[in-house]
Amino acid sequence: MFPQLTLIFLFSLVVIHPLHVSAKTWCVANTSVAATQLQANIDWACSEGKVDCVKINPGGVCFDPDTVLSHASFVMNDFYQNHGSTEESCNFSGTGQIVTVDPSYGSCVYT
Ligand SMILES: *[C@@H]1O[C@H](CO)[C@@H](O)[C@H](O)[C@H]1NC(C)=O
Ligand SMILES: *[C@@H]1O[C@H](CO)[C@@H](O)[C@H](O)[C@H]1NC(C)=O
Repeated sequence: MFPQLTLIFLFSLVVIHPLHVSAKTWCVANTSVAATQLQANIDWACSEGKVDCVKINPGGVCFDPDTVLSHASFVMNDFYQNHGSTEESCNFSGTGQIVTVDPSYGSCVYT
């Protein structure tokens, strides 16, 4: 009925839409990795003051769920975001993985 409008609509889907798709990525702990390895990531990053660990401590917005996996993911992502979001900065000796879905939940915001 309105071929021009249809064309414009299709054009906008193909060309304009991708420009609005966020290319942002996050770093999380690989769920298959042993908790001891993930705890080592937390200890390393927190002791060096490389990340904000207040949020995963008791009373912090990312304390719950109180699991090594959850805490490690938050810390690893914080490090990743502050170190160029490179593959290397999410490596953690092969224990990290880059994801395209925002892992934030509730008040715990993954930057
Ligand atoms: C997660 O770790 C497992 C076991 O080390 C490995 O086989 C798998 O490839 C890793 N996954 C990613 C996405 O890195
Ligand atoms: C990640 O770490 C593993 C183990 O230390 C290493 O073999 C690999 O080359 C690293 N990958 C990147 C992209 O740095």
